[in-house]
Parts: sequence; C-alpha cells; structure tokens
Amino acid sequence: MGSVSLKIGDGTARFRRATVCSSALHIVMLLSVVITNLFALYAFKYVPASLAGNRQHGDIVLPQDHHGNLDIISDHVSLIVREIESSQKKLSQIEREILGYETLDVSKPNLPLELKLFLHRHPLPLGRDSRTGITEMVSSVGHSCARAADLLSLSLYMAYKPGEECPADAHLQHKLISRGCEPLPRRRCRSAATSKPGLLPLPHSLWKPVSEKIVGSWNGFDKQMWVNPRGKNDFLIDDVLGLGRNIRLGFDIGGGAGNFAARMAEKNVTVVTSLLNDRNPVSDFVAARGLFPLFLSSDQRFPFYDSVFDLVHTMYGLEKTDFFLFDVDRVLRPGGLLWLDNWYVAGEKKKGELTVLIEKFTYKKLKWVVGEKPDPSGLGKKICLSAVLQKPARGG
Ligand SMILES: *[C@@H]1O[C@H](CO)[C@@H](O)[C@H](O)[C@H]1NC(C)=O
Repeated sequence: MGSVSLKIGDGTARFRRATVCSSALHIVMLLSVVITNLFALYAFKYVPASLAGNRQHGDIVLPQDHHGNLDIISDHVSLIVREIESSQKKLSQIEREILGYETLDVSKPNLPLELKLFLHRHPLPLGRDSRTGITEMVSSVGHSCARAADLLSLSLYMAYKPGEECPADAHLQHKLISRGCEPLPRRRCRSAATSKPGLLPLPHSLWKPVSEKIVGSWNGFDKQMWVNPRGKNDFLIDDVLGLGRNIRLGFDIGGGAGNFAARMAEKNVTVVTSLLNDRNPVSDFVAARGLFPLFLSSDQRFPFYDSVFDLVHTMYGLEKTDFFLFDVDRVLRPGGLLWLDNWYVAGEKKKGELTVLIEKFTYKKLKWVVGEKPDPSGLGKKICLSAVLQKPARGG
C-alpha cells in the first residue's frame, strides 16, 4: 500500500512515530511474557525431592505443598507484572520525549471518561503512514493543563453528560484559557441555544444597541474613538487608511467590543477582532454587531498564516512585547501597516526600550507621536506612544 496522505492542517493533531526505541521495548515486553510462561511451566513441573519420595509410596500430596508451588508462581507472576509495568512506563516516557512535550497521563485515576476518550491516541485508519512512519494520531490539545490545579479544572470542564446540554461554565473556560490551558478540548455536549433576538443587517448592526436578551445590561460602544480625537495620540481612521495601499483585511488584537472593526467596516475593511469574554458577553456583543469575534488569549500564536494582513491594530501594549511583535510581524504583509495605538510607556527607559525594539524591525515610521493621555481611571496622566509603521519587503 502506498503512502497515506493525511490532511491535518488545523494543528489539532500530533503524531507518534514508530521508532526503533519503542520497537525494542515492545520486544522486551514480549520476552517478559514468554519468560512468564516458562516460569509457570517450570513451577508446575517442579516437585520437591521429598515429596517425590512420598509419592512413590502412594501418599496423598498435601494441600500445603500445592500452595507452596502456587506461591512461587504468583511471586514470579507479580515480579513479571512489575517488570512489564516498568517497561510500559519507560515506553511512555520515551514517547513523551519523542513528542517533545509533556503529555497528560490518561491512565491517572479520577480523570473523566470523556477527557480520556478525547486525549486517547487513535490509530491511523489506513495503518502506518509510509512517508512519515506515523502510526497513531495524538491529540495535542489539553496537555498544557497537566499541572495539578489546571487538571482539576480541566476535569470539571470535561465532566458533562455526553449528548446532553453543556454545563454553564463560561467562567471555568475563561479561567483555564487565561492560565494557558489552551486550546481547550472539544466536548460532546450541546451548547445552550440561547436565541438572539433583534439582530440587524449590516451596516445598521454596527452601532445600534444590542438586545438585552443577548448581552444583558452590558454595552461596549465607544463612538468617539478614531473619529473624534481626544489627544494628539488618537489618530483618525481616514488618516491612517490614507497612508497605505489596498488595506482590505485587518486584525485588531485584543479589540474588545469591536469598535475598531466597526469603524473599519464602514470603510469596507474586514477586521477580525481577537478577544476574551472577561466576565462580560463580549463575543456575543461583537457577533451581534455583525463583526468577527476571534476567541483567543493574548499569549497564543496567531492562528493565521504568514503575511496575510494588510493592517494590524493593537492598543495599550502587551507583556512579552518582543515575542508579540515578532508574531505581529509574521502575519503582516510587506507594505502592510502596523498601528500601535496609545501604547503605555511608563517613563523614558520603557520608551527607549520599546523604540529600540520597534526599530529592529526596520519598519518605515509613517506616524510617531509620544504624548500624555489622561489615565482611563481618571487619576493622573499616562505617557503613550502612538505609531503607524509600514512593514518593508525583506530578502529576495
Ligand atoms: C463600500 O462598499 C460599498 C459597496 O461596494 C460602496 O457603495 C461604498 O461606497 C464603499 N464605502 C467606502 C467608504 O469605500
């Protein structure tokens, strides 16, 4: 049979290779089993000399002697079982090393059946893949929750009745995701199909109030931003769009209620907004506006291929700025615009570090403004950097 071509492009599956190591261990285990049988055979055949003598006189074999033999056998068997168990542990350790990441031990007691089922390896439907040598698919999700506290939460998350309605546990999901237990495993329960009354067609949906039946009393509209500047750090949508060419597709990182995407939609620019429901129905709100809510924590590598966006927008700044900016640089196309919107810079040192970091990317500075801005808390002012930068073409 030829090579099996498997299309697994969504990153939800990883593979186990059939390696020399694991084959060797299989052989060890096979040998153990054979030796068990030999021991058993020997133990059954073996009759102590004294007993053999008695037999010649036609005496009855005493039950204790049988017990003696059985004890020897069970000792050997338990020894060999232990041997097999330790081989299995070694095997799974080697597998973990091959996979390159710590996997959850699904043999742990108290794990919900659904979690075990989801994480269990599945043999490839057509057998060994001749091209890669892979024999099994291993779920890559959920393993980052291996820490005890997260595993407890993950177990709660997976403790549902299959086929029935999912528990209302949005807070639990948020807790898991914000602690790096991401992506979460799929579940076989139905989400509550809450109705979405009062949805409007575009463009009316962008700024009209969203029904209370969808978002309760929460409301995330900001009608001033990017059209009525509150300081020199606030750039206008039209000004920024005028700096680029063919800005059609954008990514607003941590874009909350979708106000940026709504302003861009008015300019016929499609913007994906990454967000989390941080105690508020943010995803429902953005979706009700007819905008794209991408449920994603800020630390995760963006689920987009390289050089796909014409524009990336991000406000206030993030931790691990260098990792963040490299990933932003990856998804932005050459000639595309990076809009750093009101990034907090606490003092000259931070400003200097950020400037050095940004300049390493050799972007063209189309706009660069450092200024003070009233703190959102109403107390004092914050120093902010706003910039629009253009990604250069690099290499051939
Ligand atoms: C957006 O597209 C519509 C339909 O093609 C067009 O009528 C409208 O003028 C466009 N708006 C802008 C701001 O380009």
